[in-house]
Amino acid sequence: MQLTVLVVGAGGREHALAAALARDVEVVGVHVAPGNPGTWDLSASYGVDHASDLGQRISHLDPFNPDAVVDLALDLGVNLVVIGPEAPLVAGVADQVREAGILCFGPSAQAAQLEGSKNFAKQVMASAGVPTAASRFCEELEDIESALDEFGAPYVVKDDALAAGKGVVVTMDRDVALAHAKSCSAVVIEEYLDGPEVSLFAICDGVRALPLLPAQDFKRVGDGDTGPNTGGMGAYCPLPWAPPELTDMVMAQVITPTLAEMERRGAPFQGLLYAGLALTSRGLRVVEFNVRFGDPETEAILPLLDTGLGRLLFAAAMGSLEGIGSLTWKDDYSLVIVYAAQGYPGTPSLDGSITIPPSPESVQVIHCGTALGSDGCLKPNSGRVLGIVAQGEDLGKARDGAYSYITDIGFPTGFYRRDIAEKAANGMIPIPNL
Ligand code: AMP
Ligand code: GLY
Repeated sequence: MQLTVLVVGAGGREHALAAALARDVEVVGVHVAPGNPGTWDLSASYGVDHASDLGQRISHLDPFNPDAVVDLALDLGVNLVVIGPEAPLVAGVADQVREAGILCFGPSAQAAQLEGSKNFAKQVMASAGVPTAASRFCEELEDIESALDEFGAPYVVKDDALAAGKGVVVTMDRDVALAHAKSCSAVVIEEYLDGPEVSLFAICDGVRALPLLPAQDFKRVGDGDTGPNTGGMGAYCPLPWAPPELTDMVMAQVITPTLAEMERRGAPFQGLLYAGLALTSRGLRVVEFNVRFGDPETEAILPLLDTGLGRLLFAAAMGSLEGIGSLTWKDDYSLVIVYAAQGYPGTPSLDGSITIPPSPESVQVIHCGTALGSDGCLKPNSGRVLGIVAQGEDLGKARDGAYSYITDIGFPTGFYRRDIAEKAANGMIPIPNL
């Protein structure tokens, strides 16, 4: 098979997807649009020589404009479109690409409601018998107040709509919880879930699913899990502390019943189903569903994948995952540290420039939110700017690689967490009893 793929999006996830696609010997072309400076010269960055058509610079694409995505896919003659971020999926861009007769990895607008509406996700989980936190959907102040009092502190208040990973407030302060609820037009208020969190991604073809390696994401902005929630400040995989049966349990209790329920509702799920889980003292619970590759987990996970990513996504989009068998992985650990701009997750400072020195072979630099200034210098252009990814035979070695290289990067207005994967590397995460 000779695949040419168009990846739609501009962040670290899309850069990481393109890098992994470029490693697949069956992929002869990868385009990322609108992309970022990290994706614009993939062949130079990745030394790929089997791909004839890598890294063409197509920075003008509006990912929300289905006609533009279709036109570009036709112009490029790709055999597969991969939609990276959730918002175009929720807006139905994947449906329109498919209607134009182009194969697309990514759920329909209807299926993307699993991420687009927290309330829809809760209803699907209830029908499918998937374990999740007890919750109330509230639009009126009176209901909000009574749900806060019913569940008590710590309060968990979630904007019902998409909020780029920043719609959830977990707080001991009832006034803060109430203020967040009032700032949203509808919220889901739910019981607090304790225990370590896990992200498990499944590649789905509408009926079948194949799990990727379980990963852990660091949601809070500060060391020691302090400060507000972000889109994710780092991640690692696999999880040395996780019970070996974890993935099978998540597939059996969460992914498989959810796929069956979506099919039953006439909205089969094709694309990446992301289960955000809490391993609580009372068993595993779904914290959230997302309908696309997680960011930054993807940056850590994909370098370990030996199975060709192009072939895998193509099979999912064709509805024929059974032809893939099981996935094969490198026997290593991988982590990503997010280098963010000061101010994130509030308004980030976009001042200053970035210099990226050559990295050792086991370290990769992923561009999440960079731009080229008029002076030709690399600059931050959103809250999460770079992902520093490293592999090693254990987590300690992967951490050493990433943390020693990151100090060489010149980014005076940036910051990063110092404790990504630290507890896991030091054996300090108690093994949950599932
Ligand atoms: P979500 O966008 O639903 O993933 O929520 C973002 C983050 O908020 C999660 O990764 C958790 O760290 C936290 N969170 C969400 N729901 C709960 C819950 N019920 N209990 C505890 N923490 C939660
Ligand atoms: N890392 C969390 C997310 O992608 O939503």
